[in-house]
Amino acid sequence: MTSTVCVVYSYTNKPHMGRMAISPLIACVAYYCGLVLVATSTLPALCYVPNSAARQSSTATPRRSATQTYIVFVEPPPAHLQGDDAAHRRWHESFLPSSSSSSSSGHHGGGTSGGVHHSYTSVLSGFSAKLTERQLAVVSRRPGFVRAFPERRVHLMTTHTPAFLGLTQSRGGGVWDAAGYGEGVVVGVLDTGVDETHPSFADDGTVPPPPATWKGGCVPTVPCNNKLVGAASFVGDNSTADEVGHGTHTAATAAGWFVDGVSVFGLGSGTASGIAPRAHIAVYKVCDAQGCFESDLLAGMDAAVKDGVDVVSLSLGGPSTPFDKDPIAIAAFAASSKGVPVVCAGGNGGPRPSTLSNEAPWILTVAAGTTDRSFRAAVHLGDGETFAGESLTQANNAGFGSRAYPLYYSLGANYCDSFDEDANVTGKIVVCDTETPVPPPSSVDAVREAGGAGVVFVNEADFGYTIVVEKFRDDGSLPMSQVTAVDGAKIMGYAMRAGSASETRTATIVFNSTLLGVRPAPTVAAFSSRGPSAAGPGVPKPDVMAPGLNILAAWPAAVSVDNDDTTNTNNEQEYIYNVVSGTSMATPHVTGVVALVRKMHPDWSPAAIKSAIMTSSSAVDNAGHIIVDEEHKQATYYAAGAGHVVPAKAVDPGLVYDMGVRDYAGYICALLGEAALKAIAAGANASLTCAEVGLVPEAQLNYPAILVPLQSEPFTVERTVTNVGPATSRYVAKVDAPEGLTIDVDPAELRFTEVKETKTFTVSVSGGGDGTEQMKIVEGSISWVSQDHVVRSPVVADASIAATPTT
Ligand SMILES: *[C@@H]1O[C@H](CO)[C@@H](O)[C@H](O)[C@H]1NC(C)=O
Ligand SMILES: *[C@@H]1O[C@H](CO)[C@@H](O)[C@H](O)[C@H]1NC(C)=O
Ligand SMILES: *[C@@H]1O[C@H](CO)[C@@H](O)[C@H](O)[C@H]1NC(C)=O
Ligand SMILES: *[C@@H]1O[C@H](CO)[C@@H](O)[C@H](O)[C@H]1NC(C)=O
Repeated sequence: MTSTVCVVYSYTNKPHMGRMAISPLIACVAYYCGLVLVATSTLPALCYVPNSAARQSSTATPRRSATQTYIVFVEPPPAHLQGDDAAHRRWHESFLPSSSSSSSSGHHGGGTSGGVHHSYTSVLSGFSAKLTERQLAVVSRRPGFVRAFPERRVHLMTTHTPAFLGLTQSRGGGVWDAAGYGEGVVVGVLDTGVDETHPSFADDGTVPPPPATWKGGCVPTVPCNNKLVGAASFVGDNSTADEVGHGTHTAATAAGWFVDGVSVFGLGSGTASGIAPRAHIAVYKVCDAQGCFESDLLAGMDAAVKDGVDVVSLSLGGPSTPFDKDPIAIAAFAASSKGVPVVCAGGNGGPRPSTLSNEAPWILTVAAGTTDRSFRAAVHLGDGETFAGESLTQANNAGFGSRAYPLYYSLGANYCDSFDEDANVTGKIVVCDTETPVPPPSSVDAVREAGGAGVVFVNEADFGYTIVVEKFRDDGSLPMSQVTAVDGAKIMGYAMRAGSASETRTATIVFNSTLLGVRPAPTVAAFSSRGPSAAGPGVPKPDVMAPGLNILAAWPAAVSVDNDDTTNTNNEQEYIYNVVSGTSMATPHVTGVVALVRKMHPDWSPAAIKSAIMTSSSAVDNAGHIIVDEEHKQATYYAAGAGHVVPAKAVDPGLVYDMGVRDYAGYICALLGEAALKAIAAGANASLTCAEVGLVPEAQLNYPAILVPLQSEPFTVERTVTNVGPATSRYVAKVDAPEGLTIDVDPAELRFTEVKETKTFTVSVSGGGDGTEQMKIVEGSISWVSQDHVVRSPVVADASIAATPTT
């Protein structure tokens, strides 16, 4: 399944370095989790797509004689050995055939098996090791063996965004003040490492030391400070250097310190900071330029939880996988059971349905939206029409718009990959179609080499109004504008309109720098993966939306910001920030919000924190309308989740829908059975059984959003809320149901007299849509409304839930 979609955009089957890699890279961007470096062709390694795509399925088996890294689940060691890591490792080594000596050298490279690679003791009981099939057979016969599966490679999936989310440095009041800017909270970021010298991670003396419970530390090469309190590597050496940029960008977005005068390409100027600027950051390098391997990722999770992080941020993932075979889901289950929320990118497989990654109900799954900022590069046509394009190539092109240029568009060369000898594009603005989310650098080169004066790139139709800006350093970059497919069609129509031979079609590009307050915002970004969840279709996903399009944040000085082949070229202040897009960028925004909530409510469970963020999120945009998608059509829950995060409200939700290990265990039992429970919950509590926890049907899980079959008979779900607001509170149910859907809440009023008091109610949903075939999914909401709180839960009635009962 995944391999087919993966090659759609691909011109070559070989993942390789250099420019041609743009195609497989983008295929990956579009269909796997969040490689966020949309179109950074110098970094194909994050995204080995086409020729390994088939193998990315968990069912793939290696060649018989070949070794492969397996993740092996085993029973925990005898009780007296627990808590002793060395004894734990010896226990794990005892599973291996005696020929395998302990300790290994190359993990990604070497061809021979070499003992236990990572020994996991915190988020699961087990280890990773390179084994042949024959060796695996030996391991699987040892007493205490539970199961094993081959590891997969997974993918990586701001000056302005804090303000867009309502976070400002106000004197007195304000959520940043109230939540101490996240002070004392340790944010664990599992990613490509970090540029620890970046000013976003500077310790200016105002961040206090990490909490006494903090057990992490930094590798020898990195001087830890009170801001960066952890730096560890799981990719084979002790270097946490970020050769990719992704990890520096995400860590700074979650909890970077304030840096003034930040801009990139001369644009987006302002003060940069993370969402929780006083929180501590611990970086776990689990990916390198070769990619991310699940065994390393698990080791990072294991260490993060042991070190005592307060939240884990994962801007990476693979295709949807059954939860009992998904290491991220398994490790997140254990982390969550130990009180550590796990925030994950939903993936960049949109706008196709059912493209989500990281969908387990105990994970906070993040969708990506736009911000109200536009790097405006308006296209003015000779007939007076104007289209609002975007571009980052503005710095040296300010004067470009003062005159008009002939407009060139040729159906024969519409992708601008090359131009005929007799094509005369000299001094012209060339209109180019694109098949990819961002225009390939090769097209820019072709236009420049042919003598073009400028270029207008037309978005691929799928991407609607979402424009992922392409990046080029100013030097030598052509004046450029990227426009939507709709605008592009009009521009092409004008370029090709019949007229007298003497009549020349003209255009120019007016660079308007950085516009704020653009409406509507947010909208769902086209690439943001969509539900329903393939692995657990009865729980509505994604959970929430946060800014993920064209996000400006920190970047390592040693990594190129643009799409040139050259690296290590920008040791200049201007290029230690970069604009990047993806659910990878949305994720750390939510991680930062989790840190703020955690700071204010240290005793809340991960489920309570997620509930707070979901029920307080905004269903409307900055124009007061329901949030729309990339087509500017009303976004469904499967695109936007419960809504756009609102930090100020998330810290004070009034009521929460809480859950614990036993709720999730019952859900796993109903969905996947006892064996899956044993696999998933071993790291949390190995003695849980389905008989004891009972079965929790998907719809009955105490989720903060409700998903039911669309049917004419009422379908009733039960929910329980916990009062976390004022002790004495009265809430009244407010139902918002579109025509064709009936929602009844019973009781319709809840009265609380104590904090932490719980109340249970039922929601009955019935309807047939409006009778049309298209109305397969109907959405409404219920809100519990008190004097000072609105606790909103979307209600999704989906006909496909009834049609295909989950197995
Ligand atoms: C990494 O550093 C630690 C000390 O912090 C050392 O014990 C270990 O041997 C080092 N590992 C490698 C692969 O260099
Ligand atoms: C190409 O077009 C430009 C501008 O329209 C014109 O000045 C020039 O003479 C043309 N060159 C050729 C070789 O036709
Ligand atoms: C660009 O900026 C100019 C002046 O700053 C303004 O008049 C114009 O409306 C802007 N155009 C667009 C498309 O935003
Ligand atoms: C693990 O689950 C068992 C069975 O439900 C329960 O009795 C025990 O208290 C749990 N242990 C922990 C540490 O939660």
